[in-house]
Amino acid sequence: MGERVKGKTAIVTGAGASGPGMGNGKAAAILYAREGARVMLVDCNLAAAEETRRVIDQEGGECTVFQRDVTRAVDCQCMAAKCIEVFGRIDILHNNVGIPGIGDVLSTSEERWDEIMNINLKSMFLTCKYVLPQMEKQRSGAIVNISSITAIKRLQFPSVAYSVSKAGVIALTREIAIQHAARGVRANAVVPGYIRTPVMETAVADAHAEDVEKIFKERADKIPVRKLGDAWDTAYAALFLASDEAKYVTGAVLVADGGLTEATKI
Ligand SMILES: NC(=O)c1ccc[n+]([C@@H]2O[C@H](COP(=O)([O-])OP(=O)(O)OC[C@H]3O[C@@H](n4cnc5c(N)ncnc54)[C@H](O)[C@@H]3O)[C@@H](O)[C@H]2O)c1
Repeated sequence: MGERVKGKTAIVTGAGASGPGMGNGKAAAILYAREGARVMLVDCNLAAAEETRRVIDQEGGECTVFQRDVTRAVDCQCMAAKCIEVFGRIDILHNNVGIPGIGDVLSTSEERWDEIMNINLKSMFLTCKYVLPQMEKQRSGAIVNISSITAIKRLQFPSVAYSVSKAGVIALTREIAIQHAARGVRANAVVPGYIRTPVMETAVADAHAEDVEKIFKERADKIPVRKLGDAWDTAYAALFLASDEAKYVTGAVLVADGGLTEATKI
């Protein structure tokens, strides 16, 4: 066990994974626990959260599962209250919940736009709304919001709702960072690049059934480090921002993309 967040309490939203293997939220939850935090695993899918709990338990870490939907204000309020009840404080809020979405303005329905905004952006506004009062009371807290490279650079495929939601995540993070800095709260965003997670595997398989490995190789070839990221790459970037090592870092956007966004020429 490490000690990078020893004695802290962390809420991780979307702490399960959408399939077998390691997702970003699952890896972050396991890593916080490995580094000494007590972790509240929040997910609307109980089985997915329980799988993360199984791993943390096996490694001797400490966690609790809380099944809730973070697009609902009442659920976010309960989440904050439960964390305080169980652990006594909230040191880290890691907002991981998010879904992908392909489509331009014409092909994206109003319902799909609203769904992506609610899950990817409004959920983070709501969790922050109910966690911030406790962090301010403590005069300390670290919020880590998961954005995406599509927030800062257009990719080959259209993803208007997803990109706008993830750009909103960065704007939300900066607003919170500045407005709550004097009361001891830091807020930072992680911008992952192409990360090979279960949800990414499914998205690629759905779009290019027979050519999954070929598509991943083509993507990797465009990345300066010549490989896709994995969930631990996102998790380690978040761990730094959540820990006291980053005590002077707030309002930052940490890009973890193997150099992809810097390398792509306009
Ligand atoms: N994989 C990539 O290439 C990549 C790149 C950039 C950013 N991201 C971001 O990473 C995050 C997701 O990563 P992941 O690998 O953990 O995804 P995942 O889909 O494997 O896990 C997300 C978890 O969130 C839960 N969830 C979904 N909606 C919820 C809700 N309303 N309330 C509570 N729980 C909910 C799901 O049940 C699931 O267990 C997203 O924000 C995504 O945009 C991923």
